[in-house]
Amino acid sequence: MSDSPLTPMSVDHHVDIHRLRALINEFSSFGSTPAGGLNRTALSTDDFAVRDHLLSIAQRHGWEWGIDEIGNIFITRWGSDPQAAPVFIGSHLDSQPDGGRFDGSYGVIAGLLVLETLEMRGIVTRRPVTVVDWTNEEGAVFSPSMMGSAVYARRLASSAAKNAVNGDGLSVAEALASWRKLPAGAQPRAPHSYVELHIEQGPILESRGQVVAAVRGVQGISQFDLIFLGQAAHAGTTPVELRRDALVAASRVVIAADQAMREDTKLRVTVGNLSVRPGARNVVPAQASLHIDLRHPDRRAQRQWVDTLVERARKEAEQSGVTVDVHHVLDQAPLSFDGSIIEIIQRAIDHLGLSGTVLDSGAGHDAMQISSIAPTGMIFIPCVGGISHAEAEDITDEWAHAGAEVLFETVVELAR
Ligand code: GLV
Ligand code: MN
Ligand code: MN
Repeated sequence: MSDSPLTPMSVDHHVDIHRLRALINEFSSFGSTPAGGLNRTALSTDDFAVRDHLLSIAQRHGWEWGIDEIGNIFITRWGSDPQAAPVFIGSHLDSQPDGGRFDGSYGVIAGLLVLETLEMRGIVTRRPVTVVDWTNEEGAVFSPSMMGSAVYARRLASSAAKNAVNGDGLSVAEALASWRKLPAGAQPRAPHSYVELHIEQGPILESRGQVVAAVRGVQGISQFDLIFLGQAAHAGTTPVELRRDALVAASRVVIAADQAMREDTKLRVTVGNLSVRPGARNVVPAQASLHIDLRHPDRRAQRQWVDTLVERARKEAEQSGVTVDVHHVLDQAPLSFDGSIIEIIQRAIDHLGLSGTVLDSGAGHDAMQISSIAPTGMIFIPCVGGISHAEAEDITDEWAHAGAEVLFETVVELAR
């Protein structure tokens, strides 16, 4: 985080930017990479270490904590009404492999800062305020993305989530058991509302010179795997007409996906992982697996593009004399956040005199899952150059501060 001077705001600041910076540095030390990023994939040793750190802060403050069966962490500062449903705030502490320090972590850290600020200022809210760290938002190692929040919202069976395995065959259940016996601590009651503060992960806010946004909604996300199966053969002796090369068929689908984005400018489709077996230079590939992520703001187009690419995969497989299996991992429709929460966030932005706007999200968030069970909203701040899911991810003090202030005011309003 650069040390740029703060832009004065029109009202008193609530949160302490120095404490925010200290917390960001503290949390970034778990899984930090030499290039200034984070390698803290879900349920890794570093993910568990940073979670323990979060719990130790809660215990130091005497806040109530709980961990549910899928590892979501809840830290609650009680309000004056023990019967009132809590306001949830938070995000995720896991990162992409060689990812950035702010994607997710910033939202959890700012949530902690909100609790500390309430405490320091002696503010008694009526509702409890609960900071949440959702397990495995990224889905980089264990699929699907947004795993913990989807289980919490009962949109994904906990058994299915626990059975998910990483590339080494380790299951989510085994990884969690290596950390601690779950559930543990006190389980919070269902939320009154949920607000997630996050970096935009794209270039719009920075290019417009705006420091904060209320998020209108999120585009749809489909994730699926294509597994092409051919025949391993000798690289030097097998003529082209006898080859059943799984990688050749898979590669044609990668190119088709790229071409599809040129046909439909609203489509985002990414083949983020390609694995080849047996994976030796001098063996014709017997197996090629593609992990595909496809996004679109329109539900019909989202579904049609999934069908089109699956169809294309079958055609390419046939032409290469191989087979293809399709595994659908995630089918999340586009959604809009709660209008009244968007208004509260906008009022906070106006009250603070910040340069703000309303924006749609290109990235997926735990808020998508929680919006199915509680009124939900999101706050975005810019990130430098729009870069995210990369070690170069960065934010300025000014943006970090603006987001935390808006979160604080939003929480005070929701929890009153
Ligand atoms: C999460 O970061 C996603 O949008 O994939
Ligand atoms: Mn995120
Ligand atoms: Mn992410």
